[in-house]
Amino acid sequence: MRILSGIQPSGRPHLGNYFGAIRQYISLQTGNEPFYFIASYHALTAVQDPPLLREYTLGVALDFLALGLDPEQATLFAQQDVPEVTELTWILSCVTPMGMLERAVSYKDKVAQGLAPSHGLFAYPVLQAADILIYLSDLVPVGQDQRQHIEMTRDIAGKFNQQFGDVFVVPEPYILDSTAVVPGTDGRKMSKSYGNEIGIFEEGSVLKKKVMSIVTDSKPVEAPKDPQESTPFLLLRLLASPEETTDWESRYRAGGLGYGEVKKRLLALIEEHFAPFLERRRELEADPDYVMDVLAEGGRRARAVAQQVMHQVREATGLRTTY
Ligand code: TRP
Repeated sequence: MRILSGIQPSGRPHLGNYFGAIRQYISLQTGNEPFYFIASYHALTAVQDPPLLREYTLGVALDFLALGLDPEQATLFAQQDVPEVTELTWILSCVTPMGMLERAVSYKDKVAQGLAPSHGLFAYPVLQAADILIYLSDLVPVGQDQRQHIEMTRDIAGKFNQQFGDVFVVPEPYILDSTAVVPGTDGRKMSKSYGNEIGIFEEGSVLKKKVMSIVTDSKPVEAPKDPQESTPFLLLRLLASPEETTDWESRYRAGGLGYGEVKKRLLALIEEHFAPFLERRRELEADPDYVMDVLAEGGRRARAVAQQVMHQVREATGLRTTY
């Protein structure tokens, strides 16, 4: 199966990103043919600071490689290394009804959050369709919030195929399992926009302070407590073994347990789990040439596929190159 997904470069990943998405992308790499790219053209709708965009782009590559993405199994690349995708965006935009884009909730959300309502932001779903279709992707793993974009991609592929012949594969969404809702330090869903996140690559006193500041209720130590209502427990169970989790659950219910104790154990589990990734990220940071080589190689591989498909698209649409 050709798997494809895009990751918007927007700062450091947190535990919510890890358990909700990254971990699943990485486990999909075995036995499939995944293409994962850094959605830099998409990011340009929001990040218009060149050094920052470069830093974020490299940051995503470092994160994914540190967390176990294997460039032998997965093609990791930066979107701008396949400029054909913008050519396809134009062609697809000519079979995309205005009404479809006008119904896009992500556009309305982003404008409501204060992003400039540019044409790029409005056309964002068409670029996303081009990303997916240009590699003839079968499966697109994404979070629930991207479902509408994949539906639009399927519609656009159908319209193109109907008008010009069967060039594109109509892809299926693969909605990632986010039932593992990851709460942030204040108990709401972990999200950068709430400022309640715990970063994957945080450590030392910064990490300790965050974990110790997780909001809990004010029940006395002796009182029996419901683990499902307790943020430190909900985070702990993502990292602890099933046996350990059950053990903490009974201790919550029995009473006599202080939240400080749970937080201390949670801190140790986070440090234990992410220490090797942190170490690996440091090694990679010290070797930016290697990371750039991985991206360059991924870009070449992806571009070769895209160029073949674009050849078919140009033939099908009457846009054959004249020279
Ligand atoms: N819009 C996606 C997001 O915000 C990122 C993205 C861009 C993407 N192109 C894609 C995801 C293609 C899947 C497939 O998360």
